[in-house]
Amino acid sequence: MEVGPRDGLQNEAARISTDAKIAFVDRLSAAGLRHIEVSAFVSPKWIPQLDDAGEVFAGITRRPDVRYSALVPNMKGLERAQAAGVTDVAIFVAASETFSQRNTNRTIDASVQTSREVALAALAAGLRVRGYLSTAFGCPFEGPVPVERVVTLTRQLVDMGVFAVAVSDTIGVAHPGQVRALLPELLAAVSPTDLALHFHDTRGTALANVLAALDFGITTFDASAGGLGGCPYAPRATGNLATEDLLYMLHGLDIETGVDINAVSDAALAMAPHVGHPLASRYTQTR
Ligand code: HMG
Ligand code: MG
Repeated sequence: MEVGPRDGLQNEAARISTDAKIAFVDRLSAAGLRHIEVSAFVSPKWIPQLDDAGEVFAGITRRPDVRYSALVPNMKGLERAQAAGVTDVAIFVAASETFSQRNTNRTIDASVQTSREVALAALAAGLRVRGYLSTAFGCPFEGPVPVERVVTLTRQLVDMGVFAVAVSDTIGVAHPGQVRALLPELLAAVSPTDLALHFHDTRGTALANVLAALDFGITTFDASAGGLGGCPYAPRATGNLATEDLLYMLHGLDIETGVDINAVSDAALAMAPHVGHPLASRYTQTR
């Protein structure tokens, strides 16, 4: 699951043109990625970087075999997404109160309620819905997050009818020991196909976390071309695990992905002048 155009670009300081975003998405789909999170219909006051979500969706070349999704925080976001012809949306809930407040100005309970309304309406309209559970491995404000809360919220998201919950390490603090401790608890409540894992790479443990999760039958991992990304409401969190770095490891393990690693790396390199800083991806840095 490629999240660079959304999770990556939402946290870039530079103003990136709509044309550059469109070209980025098209390069990623041409590279063989089959699920791309294109943008977010969130409040433009909160995330000005993605205030052109509708224009990006209007400009991309939609391939029939690719799913293009958008993050939506509320009914207004869903309406904007539908007006842009979006068929896949993602709802998001946090596992810690402080992050929930900082990121969406509401409590976890209120967020669950809003997400349920959005999911019901989206499913009724024939859309596919993905869920995210943020701060599942730790909160930038509160520190450790209780495992029972992570399991309960994941189960609640699955019960809303989402096709998968991306259990997310928003700030990149997870390590393989934590993955090995959390997954058995989660898999007692939901099946491996209900889950995806979304790692940020702040402390360099994201790939090790993927390797640990593969042993539990998890087959969907979120990543961002070039390792772009972060969350503006999670201080010090860096980018997502880089897609190229993930592909390098998976291909080395003889796991087929259908994705051309150098084409992803080229897509990231084409974005580098726009973001104005070197890319975090180790693969792309050392090609
Ligand atoms: P709020 O200010 O409390 O919203 O924000 P409100 O409902 O009180 O409305 C205030 C104004 O915003 C109104 O406009 C609304 O119409 C407008 P006004 O009447 O003042 O002119 N508004 C909107 N406009 C456009 N689109 C919308 C929308 N909603 C309201 N959808 C809200 C609450 C949830 C909207 C806001 O806090 C928000 O957008 N938060 C999103 C922040 C965000 O995008 N964070 C990053 C994504 S999450 C993430 O990165 C984590 C993830 O990667 C997984 C992981 O790593 O953990 C997914
Ligand atoms: Mg994220």
